[in-house]
Amino acid sequence: MYKSIAIDGPAGAGKSTIAKRLSEKIGFNYLDTGAMYRSYTYYFLANNIDINDEELINSKLDDINLSIEDNKFYLDGKDISKEIRSEQVTKNVSLVSSYRRVREKLVEMQRKIAKQSNIILDGRDIGSHVLKDASIKFFLTASAEERARRRLQDSKETNQDFEAVLADIKRRDDFDSTREITPLKQADDAILIDSTDLSEDGVIDLMKQYLEQNHVI
Ligand code: DC
Repeated sequence: MYKSIAIDGPAGAGKSTIAKRLSEKIGFNYLDTGAMYRSYTYYFLANNIDINDEELINSKLDDINLSIEDNKFYLDGKDISKEIRSEQVTKNVSLVSSYRRVREKLVEMQRKIAKQSNIILDGRDIGSHVLKDASIKFFLTASAEERARRRLQDSKETNQDFEAVLADIKRRDDFDSTREITPLKQADDAILIDSTDLSEDGVIDLMKQYLEQNHVI
């Protein structure tokens, strides 16, 4: 049986960067589940589908042809990995990811992919829902201010200011943790890591120690 590592946490906690680097270090594959919700959101926006209309969204789900290869995301074969990081997608993805049918579809895909190799999945509901029996679960967090600072630093868009990014992070935290279906929540058996005062290397080393202690690697 393959091993799986769940990394959950709020927006901007550094999950994707950490998960990607850790996966390279330990020879696991990596699946960014947030990018899947972003890809669907991009599809709806690009096709002028009203994302406030849940029924309409439901009726379009079977039209979406999402594929993933080497951490790159494709719609109908077109690489959209850059587009899904836009401010517009970031602003709208929480709403799209709150819809039940959207989640069911993507969770099914995530479970299928997770079965095929040793893998790290990062997201919001991996430890609490998608992979309840993951080999190990981490909940990675940091203060909202620190997460906003990091997001700003990483952002390719130059016209953003700190207060706006902080407000968006807080809005998403609130939306993601209070939504009805599988909200952002630390699983009972997840290891909490607060990265506010830790470097990327510090977080990775700490996780590696836990992986060794728990015989995941
Ligand atoms: O990690 P991210 O910022 O790329 O995630 C984008 C959005 O997708 C986030 O606002 C919440 C949602 N999401 C989710 O609901 N469940 C996941 N497993 C991953 C992301």
